[in-house]
Amino acid sequence: MAINNEATRLRSQGVDLADLGAGEPHFTTPEHIKQACIEAVQQNFSKYTPVAGFKELREALVARHHQDFGSEYSFDETIVTTGGKSALFNTFQVMIDHGDEVIIPVPYWVSFKDMVEYCGGKCSFVTTRAEEGFRLTAAMIEQAITPKTRIILLNSPNNPSGAVVSQKDLKAIVHLAASRGIYVMSDECYVYLDYTGKPFSLGSLKEYKNSLLLMGSLSKTYAMTGWRLGFAMAPKAVIGQLQKLQSQSTSNPTSIVQKAGLAAVSGSQQCVADMRAEYIKLRDRIIAGLRTIPGVKVNVPQGAFYAFPDVSEIVDRVGIDTVQLTSRLLRDGHVVGVPGEAFGMPGHIRFSYASSAENIDRGIERVRTFFASL
Ligand SMILES: Cc1ncc(COP(=O)(O)O)c(C=O)c1O
Repeated sequence: MAINNEATRLRSQGVDLADLGAGEPHFTTPEHIKQACIEAVQQNFSKYTPVAGFKELREALVARHHQDFGSEYSFDETIVTTGGKSALFNTFQVMIDHGDEVIIPVPYWVSFKDMVEYCGGKCSFVTTRAEEGFRLTAAMIEQAITPKTRIILLNSPNNPSGAVVSQKDLKAIVHLAASRGIYVMSDECYVYLDYTGKPFSLGSLKEYKNSLLLMGSLSKTYAMTGWRLGFAMAPKAVIGQLQKLQSQSTSNPTSIVQKAGLAAVSGSQQCVADMRAEYIKLRDRIIAGLRTIPGVKVNVPQGAFYAFPDVSEIVDRVGIDTVQLTSRLLRDGHVVGVPGEAFGMPGHIRFSYASSAENIDRGIERVRTFFASL
């Protein structure tokens, strides 16, 4: 937040920043998706829809998921939400009682901790290590389980590390959870931005369906961050609770945006493949650049669109923390990044490569010059 405010202040003074901070695609929404929304406006698709989203969209989400991952959900095990964030927030609300524990692997996406704490839950953190490629195993999770554990939260591909949990580890974690009567909440916001080969959803583990809470988003997949469209797939009883909560809070996600979402999931998926191919090139570019900067160590991210370099050598040498380093990088080096503290992992900085190649190159050169000046 402080970084954002400072970036806005500098921009208003005319400072030209290399912005590698944004957590959203630099692409614009594909044309056929925009067109579907324009048509919905012209056809006066302006009334309330069913709270959980109109049936055709829920069915299309289910069909897309089945085709891509072999999952077997029905439309009434699916709710459309105002972005993936509200799917996550509302699911914590209906699942967590005061004192319940949620296991969260570190590094974690910034909102998870606050969401859990807001509904009276307690976070139990499991730290992964950059040296091990941020690997998460069932054995690591098992050590954190207590009688109060209600949910294990997974986010693969991960924001901020870009790590992808292997299918073997995922299956072992889900098996462990199911055998202990614990839910696995899988935040699959970046599931289509997986560069390891074929994207994998926990939804494909059909035999564990009763233990799974799948959280989806159209934001990153279709470059639709501002449209606010996400979904949850979960046991019918959970979806029923989510409907009640949504009914008394936001009601349906915006009607015309649902029409855009329908075009996104039921139309050609070539746009997703094209954007994925571009992200891979940008990833290779930023990683190659970061690896030439003295004092910076970085893994090759396997998904999402973030590099999460280890800069602990620099912070130790200079005697400051990563929050201070990142603010000085912004103020004096004119590069926007997010300090690892925001993700529970100091000593790292998150740089987004959802940006133009020119901006990435500019950012890398500025980081190099700034670090060398310390
Ligand atoms: C890991 C993760 N989950 C969920 C979200 C929420 O995305 P949205 O609410 O735009 O669908 C984000 C957005 O940055 C994210 O990084």
